[in-house]
Amino acid sequence: MDTLLLARLQFAATASVHFLFVAVTLGLVTLLVGLQTAWVVTGNPRWERLTRFWGQLYVINYVLGIATGIVMEFQFGLNWSGLSRYVGNVFGAPLAIETLVAFFLESTFLGMWIFGWHRLRRGVHLALLYGVALTAYASAFWIMVANSWLQNPVGYEVRDGVAHLTDFSALLTNPALGMALGHVVSAALLTGGLLMAGISAWHLLRRTPDHDLFRTSLRIGVVTATLAISLVQGFGFAQFGPVLSVQPTKFGGTSPEAEALIAEWSARFGPGDYLPPTLANVGLGFMILIGLGLGLLWLLLPLLWRDWIIRLRFPLWLLMLAVPLPFVALILGWISREVGRQPWVAYGLLPVDQAVSPISGWLMAVSLIGFTLLLGTLAVTNWVLLARHAARGTADPALGRPPAQPAADDSRPEPAFA
Ligand code: HEM
Repeated sequence: MDTLLLARLQFAATASVHFLFVAVTLGLVTLLVGLQTAWVVTGNPRWERLTRFWGQLYVINYVLGIATGIVMEFQFGLNWSGLSRYVGNVFGAPLAIETLVAFFLESTFLGMWIFGWHRLRRGVHLALLYGVALTAYASAFWIMVANSWLQNPVGYEVRDGVAHLTDFSALLTNPALGMALGHVVSAALLTGGLLMAGISAWHLLRRTPDHDLFRTSLRIGVVTATLAISLVQGFGFAQFGPVLSVQPTKFGGTSPEAEALIAEWSARFGPGDYLPPTLANVGLGFMILIGLGLGLLWLLLPLLWRDWIIRLRFPLWLLMLAVPLPFVALILGWISREVGRQPWVAYGLLPVDQAVSPISGWLMAVSLIGFTLLLGTLAVTNWVLLARHAARGTADPALGRPPAQPAADDSRPEPAFA
């Protein structure tokens, strides 16, 4: 069995599944910040109910998402020891910051937010949610810093066969970073917005109670997703320039720069196939197709006037059907970015076959099956729980439920052991 192929499949499976959770987390937390701010500023309880409902879905997704993140980190340590050895001095810093920010700070803020309901002053409680959102964005930033370094290694020198960081600021100004970060963040907002719009559309179609609340969240979701898709498209097209300037072999690589680079690599690393598989371009093409198709969201925006979007009903169906599209595009986007840099794990520096751990194919196959089953279970559990809690509506989510009042009736007998 081909250890390298299995390790790459394992990376693809863990990274893709984990990122779906990340996108929902980033998108929903941004919307939650808006909802809770509206509650604190206006004091209107409808905003509190919306915050509790969407907050509950956010928390479910966050908890299961963290579990997928642990699987992902585990897989990194297990399968890519060559990568850790060669570029750990550079790559380790942003990854460690990401772990500290995501696992410790963000989870601490979130825990205090969940349990601080009715215990903390409203302003403090809201500040905690801002803390959760800021650390979520910081975590996305650092992971993109690390990924961009692998796409385009900068600010390092190789000593004793190992890369060492020489210029921290180069990590932050990496041309592979800026537009990609904008693209990923707007893709997350699109995902969160469309999820909110789709779930609200379901409630409005079924005429469940709380019509008014779901009408509000439908509007918020549609506006967010519509604005986000334009940003996704803008940052997406803007990525081509920087990507091709630092990775001439991406997307086919027939330019003179690509040919010169391939000649240089052949001289340094020996002859080989230095062009990425076509799978990367297929991913790119379908992602762009989805991105352009979702641009039609702009047509729904005028229908928000006088609730035509609800009265006509079919736009609600369209919104529900569109919910999976950003998720598919997210996976295709990462396939495009990651497969597109093959055969390198760190572009032009470390080939993938030198980065993989010296593990037998059988062992790799066993961990691949184990992790895939685990991730599949986490993903299915997440969607079942999200669907179940989403279907219950805003009546009384467990998140933020007021503490039970002690019974006024004093006539109850004392427990026997008192
Ligand atoms: C017109 C639409 C779009 C264009 C022009 C576009 C463009 C691109 C390009 C050029 C890349 C590859 C960057 C690289 O290889 O380094 C990319 C990657 C990616 N795309 Fe898109 N994209 C579009 C739509 C979407 C949509 C709808 C989503 C998801 C909702 C999405 C999510 C991603 C992700 C997650 C990546 C990997 C990270 C990154 O490089 O930013 N894209 N996109």
